[in-house]
Amino acid sequence: MKATAIAPTNIAFIKYWGKKDEKLRLPENGSVSMNLSNLITTTTVEFSENFPKDTVTIDGKQDLSEEKRVIQHLDRIRDLAKLKYKAKVVSQNNFPKSTGLSSSASGFAALTVAATKTAGLNLSEKELSILARQGSGSACRSIPSGFVEWLDGETSETSYAVSIFPPSYWEIADIVAIVADEKKEVSSTEGQKIASSSPFFKARLSRIKEKIKLIKKLIKEKNFPQFGELIESEALELHAIMLTSKPPLIYWLPGTVKIMRLVKKWRADGLPVYFTVNTGQDVHLICQKKDTEVLQNKLKKIKEVKKVIINFSAEGARISKNHLF
Ligand code: PMV
Repeated sequence: MKATAIAPTNIAFIKYWGKKDEKLRLPENGSVSMNLSNLITTTTVEFSENFPKDTVTIDGKQDLSEEKRVIQHLDRIRDLAKLKYKAKVVSQNNFPKSTGLSSSASGFAALTVAATKTAGLNLSEKELSILARQGSGSACRSIPSGFVEWLDGETSETSYAVSIFPPSYWEIADIVAIVADEKKEVSSTEGQKIASSSPFFKARLSRIKEKIKLIKKLIKEKNFPQFGELIESEALELHAIMLTSKPPLIYWLPGTVKIMRLVKKWRADGLPVYFTVNTGQDVHLICQKKDTEVLQNKLKKIKEVKKVIINFSAEGARISKNHLF
């Protein structure tokens, strides 16, 4: 028996950075995100007594560094389902992985949904989110649909994501400007471990609950200018923590900074657009649907921009009939 799932990545408006429990991936703070319609992972999983070992193929290659983490996740699912069989996992991203586009979020969400289904587990959205979180923190936000809040929680059972608004609630877009295709030097898993070494980390945490309350209010009211100001300052705050960690993490490239400055200029010229950046160099431009075309054309003229991907708010992880093998 095999099952296939597709899952979107998500972009966090209020970010997850730092863990209070490394093993369970319990975050220091809650976060709020939107699923992305055009950054998708498809994963097919089969368990069989005929497989001598687990095999993991991602984007056509056997990736040993990822394999370990995937097998650990399969073990969680085998434990729950009391299953002994080994698995074949084939996964395909429609975008470059490990560059900061959150392939681990879509990847572990798709893996969780496909593997639990084929293992015969019938889990609720909450249970799937809890399980996905243990594979990769932000993956828990790719399970529910649309605009999503990850409730930080003190225990594994209370740390999961819920949909706060459906995808159709607000027509905003995330235009991703890809600045480089290279793998980032430090993964977010490694970066998260040193978050608390920044002298500013405690100050960040002391204000984060207020920020989450505010972002939810601004999404509810569809107040684009204030929402944009808040997500932009949040992204800069995240990078202030990264830059002041020990050792410092510098994810930006010259193209990243160029686009951030242009966004400010375009805004001053009357175009409502804001940026956010995760672990990596690519810039997410957040705008209203009506402005996507004009922004796409502007981005295509910048020599550092290798590719532009337009996303709207999307459904969460779901089962698909299109198996990869
Ligand atoms: O889930 P991870 O370990 O890939 O961490 C995600 C970290 C950020 O993208 C920077 C923030 C976020 O909330 O997505």
